[in-house]
Amino acid sequence: MTAPLVHRPRRLRRIPGLRRLVTATHLQPSTLIQPLFVGEDLTEPRPITAMPGIVRHTRDSLRKAAATAADAGIGGLMIFGVPAPEHKDPTGSHAWAADGISQQAIADVVDEVGDAMAVIADLNPDEFTDHGNVGVLGPDGDVDNDATLDLYARIAVAQAQAGAHMVAPSGMMDGQVAAIRRALDQAGHPSMPILAYSAKYASAFYAPFREAVSSCLVGDRATHQQNPAGSVGEALREVRLDLEQGADAVMVKPAGHYLDIIAAVRAEVDVPLAAYQTSGEYAQIEAAAKCGWLDRDKAIHESLLAIRRAGADITITYWATEVARQTGL
Ligand code: PBG
Repeated sequence: MTAPLVHRPRRLRRIPGLRRLVTATHLQPSTLIQPLFVGEDLTEPRPITAMPGIVRHTRDSLRKAAATAADAGIGGLMIFGVPAPEHKDPTGSHAWAADGISQQAIADVVDEVGDAMAVIADLNPDEFTDHGNVGVLGPDGDVDNDATLDLYARIAVAQAQAGAHMVAPSGMMDGQVAAIRRALDQAGHPSMPILAYSAKYASAFYAPFREAVSSCLVGDRATHQQNPAGSVGEALREVRLDLEQGADAVMVKPAGHYLDIIAAVRAEVDVPLAAYQTSGEYAQIEAAAKCGWLDRDKAIHESLLAIRRAGADITITYWATEVARQTGL
């Protein structure tokens, strides 16, 4: 006869009520951010093939999506403007034009939802450049870091003037947070917070996004985004540099395949930590669910719980509004 077991972890799993009582991780709608795409030249919303259920909006349908997200109680919106092809050029100048699609969309959305939820502007000219890169190209064909900082400064001020509540630089240029902070302060926006895409990897899991914004990029962003095979310490260094330069909140991207990075950053910093569940992470689950290979809703929840359990305060996810509307979070 074996001795009776003292430790039986299953005791607390026996009935739903006990399992519910000892639940440690919760998905609160206020912690979710919904990315929204808007096209300058669209007369009706355009579905994105590799992201079933997600569209590139018209300015009108964007307002409706923003209102629906506000009703669902999510914490914020991340706006991505896609210019008409004739408004792409080598420096992405429509990214900071007062009447550029991003600025128009930000103003529309702020008008729609007011100040009860955060309207965040992705700060990056890559949708607006005719080569698809995140800034000015140098003679060697690579992005010229310091020349590009001037563009980011202009975009930040334009987005602030359009009424954004927060700007989120995603280009991974060295010194970008300091340049943006300085420009915002000088232009009279010292209260504009910066959510820095601090640890952003050169990931295969952005591919559907490139379709969503009709990116012109050929090749990859390996000279500025982090190497997925890099060290955890490298990510921590990027985060520290952004905080030294004045970042108010930091981000890890992608999320689900980088839970170790999220956990390490969580242990290191006390500012809000965001994680971006990317287009490819979305597409993986949607595609498998379409084949009947995964239970879609369960897989979505599990993927979001994992990101939160790893230590993210805020999750940017294409399922934000849908998940927030479901009861029983
Ligand atoms: C840059 C940007 C990208 C994403 C968010 N901001 C694309 C990139 O860095 O190539 C990716 C988001 C996703 O895949 O969901 N504008």
